[in-house]
Amino acid sequence: MRISIHDIQQMRKQGERIPMLTAYDYPTARLLDEMGVPIILVGDSLGQVVLGYDSTIPVTMEEMLHHTRAVVRGTKRALVVGDMPFMSYQSDVATAMRNAGRFLKEGGAQAVKLEGGQTVAVTVQSLVGSGIPVMGHLGLTPQSVHQLGGYKVQGKSPKAAAQLLRDAQALEQAGAFAIVLESVPSPLSRLVTERVSVPTIGIGAGVHCDGQVQVLYDMMGLFTDFVPRHVKQYARLADVFREAVGRYVQEVREGTFPTAKESFAMDESVLAELAATP
Ligand code: KIV
Repeated sequence: MRISIHDIQQMRKQGERIPMLTAYDYPTARLLDEMGVPIILVGDSLGQVVLGYDSTIPVTMEEMLHHTRAVVRGTKRALVVGDMPFMSYQSDVATAMRNAGRFLKEGGAQAVKLEGGQTVAVTVQSLVGSGIPVMGHLGLTPQSVHQLGGYKVQGKSPKAAAQLLRDAQALEQAGAFAIVLESVPSPLSRLVTERVSVPTIGIGAGVHCDGQVQVLYDMMGLFTDFVPRHVKQYARLADVFREAVGRYVQEVREGTFPTAKESFAMDESVLAELAATP
């Protein structure tokens, strides 16, 4: 049985912290699922960490669906959340409905995530009313990077902090089952967590959130173009790759790979007959 949004809300009620990670492909999704990660987000961060774009803005619905399907195929238990890409939900509710529906019907996800607060509350309400679970995303919302003027901590001024709290309450009211808080000062995310009844999932938002999310390739040390301050590298996979690829290249060059162990034999008589044929 897959974990449901109700299980996630139950975790918050029982004071159980919620670990969430991103995944973009079948093998990593399988590993995260095996490790019992309860929520896997197919984040539009795939634009940067997998596809090499310089922001999440170019990411398309087709790209998101392609990767969502791979992640769903790799999971049995995790709740898979598909991240709605830029301009797949902002223009009008009908467009948002159509695209969110595609994540469930074509992608196989169990929920979607979208960025914004009061401005998207009507959309969230419509999606939830149609049976599509929605995770909100507040604070540093990367799809608005040009409006925000860069990847900066949000909610620091009295006005911005009050707005963030109103946005969280608007999402809760609209029926969002959880809210990501990205790059938000810890004391503010603590207050938001106290004031809303749905789980908050932090990324650069301190320890007081109900859960934490990290971009998998950041925390595994695989994406090293830039490392945000909130990232803790639990591994250095880029170094592991370099070492392994370096050895492979060297062994191919010197003819020590493959060995008999990685090669296939054949019946000597077949070969002898072939060799005897002009
Ligand atoms: O796209 C993503 O990976 C995200 C997380 C950082 C929350 O939105």
